[in-house]
Amino acid sequence: MEEIYLIGNWKMNMLPADVLAYFDKFLINLRKYINTKKEKRDIKIKTLDAVKTIFAVPYIDMFYANLYANEEKRIEIAAQNVFHIDEGSYTGEVSPLMLKSIDIKYSIIGHSERRKMGETSKDIFQKANALLKHNIVPIICIGESKDEEEKKKTKEVLKKQIKEIMENINDKNSMQKIIFAYEPLWAIGTGKHCSKDKANENILYIKEVLKEEGIENPKVLYGGSVNAENAREYIETKNIDGLLVGGASLKHTEFLKIYVEIIKVLNKE
Ligand code: PGA
Repeated sequence: MEEIYLIGNWKMNMLPADVLAYFDKFLINLRKYINTKKEKRDIKIKTLDAVKTIFAVPYIDMFYANLYANEEKRIEIAAQNVFHIDEGSYTGEVSPLMLKSIDIKYSIIGHSERRKMGETSKDIFQKANALLKHNIVPIICIGESKDEEEKKKTKEVLKKQIKEIMENINDKNSMQKIIFAYEPLWAIGTGKHCSKDKANENILYIKEVLKEEGIENPKVLYGGSVNAENAREYIETKNIDGLLVGGASLKHTEFLKIYVEIIKVLNKE
């Protein structure tokens, strides 16, 4: 069974006290769900093991979130951004070496909200190379704007975004680990999610381009207004390797519902 990623992107939300309140409840409910299913012999262990549940939290929350990840192996913690140099005079930045030192294994990079603040493809490939050097998995976001989609330029834009990054990844072995997230800009935080057919088509295309760039078995997630109602249809396509969830990850009950939807699909396999 292929791995399915469920990544919550908390963005710039959640104070440390909120983190404690969130995980206290999320983990109780997660364990209750899993144990009830196990008692009824209603769930396959391989299904549980296939779902990788990851929370991309603000730096300030990492210490607290890590306390929970240390006691529950079914959740992991990611960064939302990183700098591309390990140490030095870069006021306000956080390095891959620092993330590594507290056992962070993933970092989102190139999120459209950061691109809007001026982040370029060069920044993104530099960050990807720096993360890979420390064995941290880059989760690279790509996606077209509303205008580009209306002008039917989606594929052209996606190809350009991928090539500008992938052609500058130094280590051809470690690049196999990179995860991509297809996030159409017009679907992020708008409540207007991309239809599963369109997401499927674009993700198949992204995978084709990534194969041309040397990634043998590319992993591509969908993100953009995912919630408990629409999560299932993306996973059912079998081509989409998981979900990057913003707004709906801030409520632990909603996020658990999305987890349950994924389990239901995989448990049938
Ligand atoms: P959203 O955000 O789920 O709130 O649309 C997704 C993202 O920005 O990663």
